[in-house]
Amino acid sequence: MGELIAPKSGEWGGEARPLFLAPMAGVTDLPFRLLAKECGADFTITEFTNSTALSRAAAISWKRMETCEAESPFIPQIFGGVTEDMAHAAELLAADADIIDLNFGCPAPKVTKICAGAALMGQPDDLVSMCETIVDRVDIPVTAKMRLGTGHGAFNAKEICQDLEQVGVERLCIHGRTLKQRYSGVADWEYISDVVQSVDVPVVANGDIVDHISSQACLEQTNASGLMIGRGAIGRPSIFGEIKVGMGWMEEDDLPWIRAHEGDWNELSDIGRQFASRRWCWNRYIELAKETTGLELKSMRGHAVSFTKGLPSAKKIRSIMHGKVSREEFAQATSNFLATN
Ligand SMILES: Cc1cc2nc3c(=O)[nH]c(=O)nc-3n(C[C@H](O)[C@H](O)[C@H](O)COP(=O)(O)O)c2cc1C
Repeated sequence: MGELIAPKSGEWGGEARPLFLAPMAGVTDLPFRLLAKECGADFTITEFTNSTALSRAAAISWKRMETCEAESPFIPQIFGGVTEDMAHAAELLAADADIIDLNFGCPAPKVTKICAGAALMGQPDDLVSMCETIVDRVDIPVTAKMRLGTGHGAFNAKEICQDLEQVGVERLCIHGRTLKQRYSGVADWEYISDVVQSVDVPVVANGDIVDHISSQACLEQTNASGLMIGRGAIGRPSIFGEIKVGMGWMEEDDLPWIRAHEGDWNELSDIGRQFASRRWCWNRYIELAKETTGLELKSMRGHAVSFTKGLPSAKKIRSIMHGKVSREEFAQATSNFLATN
């Protein structure tokens, strides 16, 4: 799994396939991506960033593209409706990036109204020629993530993917919903399986993978070359290791939160294990943030809500948030809460 882009895998026979942390705006900041890797993710991708803003050197957008030496491979994702801006941003990023990922899946109106993200699936010729231009302008691999189609008319991801492989896009990822569906309904893995069969480049399946049971079902149905996990990893980056253990791809004793646990993991209750794994993840997130971006209150707040979600007395964290505490105090208070069980 060390290869940057491995060739397309054939029929799935139970062997390990790479797990990707999905790009998620407001979630997949640099320390979270590094943490997901330590938890078992094989690949991580930055949140999507506006190529026009990047090409005009907007500081906020460049901040989202922050990386560090430990992040390997570094895969920034960009979106936009203007080919020249996309190509220029890709060129600027190519100096540090290992792969450039292009977003054709975002359903947010602020993105689709500039005919970017998933809206471009409604203009497949423009989408394909945009990718061709970008592939020609950078000398690192270009990959693309999209949906099934716009939801107006038949799905067209299959035809788009066939064209994209012709212009040199090296890996594809399909989220099994349409633009119109946004996040409603159930991801259509059957159509992803059609796409997998219709191209020679690797296709990663995405949508509704939340544990090893759904991972297995998705691989059986699609034979995808990898799985991408989004919402299931919010607040639970441990999902990657848990899936690998559940699939028999990794030993439970090698999970970092079990290795770090003092005492017998098997004696912990289910809730006790949840607290322990989330505490390890939170503390590690804070360490990684200190080593890279520095502690940022906004990111910490978001992650603290997610890391504590569903745990008994999680409301305590909300009240800490409303109190006036420093960044250090906030990090420590969340860690203390996760140590209460
Ligand atoms: C909060 C949030 C932010 C997202 N941001 C992005 C993004 O920046 N780029 C992208 O390609 N997809 C983005 N997505 C979509 C996810 O990458 C993924 O395709 C989708 O959540 C389906 O996968 P899941 O069922 O595993 O969550 C986002 C999803 C969520 C929930």
